[in-house]
Amino acid sequence: MKKLDGKTAIVTGSAMGIGEGIARVLAKHGAHVMLFDRDDKVFESAKAIETEGFQAAGFKVDVTNFDEVKNTVAEVHARFGNIDVLVNNAGVIRLGNFPEMPNDTRDFHIQVNINGVWNVSKAVIPYMIEKKYGKIVNMSSVTGYMVADPGEVAYATTKSAIIGFTRSLAAEMAEHQINVNAICPGYIYTPMAQQIGKESNPDNPESVIEGIANAVPLKRLGKPEEVGELAAFLASDESSYITGTQVVIDGGSTLPETTSVGV
Ligand SMILES: NC(=O)c1ccc[n+]([C@@H]2O[C@H](COP(=O)([O-])OP(=O)(O)OC[C@H]3O[C@@H](n4cnc5c(N)ncnc54)[C@H](O)[C@@H]3O)[C@@H](O)[C@H]2O)c1
Repeated sequence: MKKLDGKTAIVTGSAMGIGEGIARVLAKHGAHVMLFDRDDKVFESAKAIETEGFQAAGFKVDVTNFDEVKNTVAEVHARFGNIDVLVNNAGVIRLGNFPEMPNDTRDFHIQVNINGVWNVSKAVIPYMIEKKYGKIVNMSSVTGYMVADPGEVAYATTKSAIIGFTRSLAAEMAEHQINVNAICPGYIYTPMAQQIGKESNPDNPESVIEGIANAVPLKRLGKPEEVGELAAFLASDESSYITGTQVVIDGGSTLPETTSVGV
């Protein structure tokens, strides 16, 4: 018996990166995984999971569009009869200095990183309440909640908001036996990390990635599947008494107290 056998799980932003890794790991642990993404690559990613002998289906959906989200979630429910797990992973980042940052950039982050999480949770929760069962995992970050670098104001603002959303929703959903938790990754090697490399140093993006890896005590970026294993734990009954909290997965990147003391 696998830890997610018989469960239906929605993973947003799962065409690539961390979301794709989470979808793959949840499927490996027995879940029937519904991949939601605005990018057409979502169908290819779902197919690849099926080809490995697991259960998956892709849906083209933009998490910022509530009607689209609601209709797609209703379709999933009609097809599978239950929605046990929701991983709110879709997210965006655009680096920029605060004084010059257009409000459109702020609004773009809010739309995807906050309203997207809100929309999919809103659409899924009625089905979880009906079943008196649910696991919601929200993708926050160490950025905003614990640390920040210059250029990340818009992103950090939204990722911190996800911590407040997670705690408050967990408090409200506890009576319905719905657990709500957040994951706070440090740097994970994905298209988003590669984009940060390009925006920080267009001439040599890989040097940015190497610099990040060197600053992490475990001396590397994380892998999407490593976040996937944590998401699978939080999505399973192994974590039944955990709710309203956040788990950091960062290779120790937030650990150093100072860079000038030590042997
Ligand atoms: N990569 C990291 O180092 C890192 C660190 C901390 C937190 N995170 C968080 O993890 C999550 C995934 O990050 P990633 O690195 O895999 O990003 P990524 O850019 O590599 O992938 C993000 C996925 O989300 C999808 N997406 C974006 N906007 C969407 C929308 N409106 N509707 C539906 N899908 C949408 C994209 O198409 C893409 O498939 C994000 O929430 C991010 O903030 C990432």
